[in-house]
Amino acid sequence: MIKVAVLVSGGGTNLQAIIDAEKAGIITSGKISLVVASRSDAYALTRAENAGIPSAVLRRKDYADPKEYDAALLKVLKDNEIDLVVMAGFLSIVGEELIEAYRDRILNIHPSLLPSFGGQGFYGLKVHEAALERGVKVTGATVHFVNEIPDGGKILFQKAVEIREDDTPETLQRRVMEEAEWILLPAAVEKVSKDLANAR
Ligand code: GRF
Repeated sequence: MIKVAVLVSGGGTNLQAIIDAEKAGIITSGKISLVVASRSDAYALTRAENAGIPSAVLRRKDYADPKEYDAALLKVLKDNEIDLVVMAGFLSIVGEELIEAYRDRILNIHPSLLPSFGGQGFYGLKVHEAALERGVKVTGATVHFVNEIPDGGKILFQKAVEIREDDTPETLQRRVMEEAEWILLPAAVEKVSKDLANAR
């Protein structure tokens, strides 16, 4: 069974989608074995506890040097024999050491149709504010592999979401989560877990 770690920083609705997908038998090739939060107040930790999933808090602000944070995160993943890393609303940047150790085994969910509205500075509500500001008629979500370029790794899945005249950044974020993120991420976890299991 592929051991999956989910990295979180906030509400954890994407984590919840993966938890629910595992329970519903949509994810069968991987098992969420660990949740790592970059903040001790992330509600995602409560979701992990409710689901009986072990968690760890690695506060970004406890590490002056990003390289030290990266090394500490990598140690937690290795100590727990993690095979696949899923960034689900994780607001810290993972460094080269971790990316190299988990080459093509780190997934990220981004709330736009990359490469639009992606890269440095595009996260959370800012992504939807930019889409509305630009006046695009369609946005969506992307699951991609993580490499050294922010939001620049190989794209795995995308799903489009129509923008409505009366959308605010908040209503758009919610609909992109409901109609795209929470569908794409579980599907991606199952596909990559299956591929990793078959490659063993
Ligand atoms: C949301 O903005 C979502 O679009 C992005 O990360 C943020 C928090 O997601 N992927 P979550 O509720 O913590 O999963």
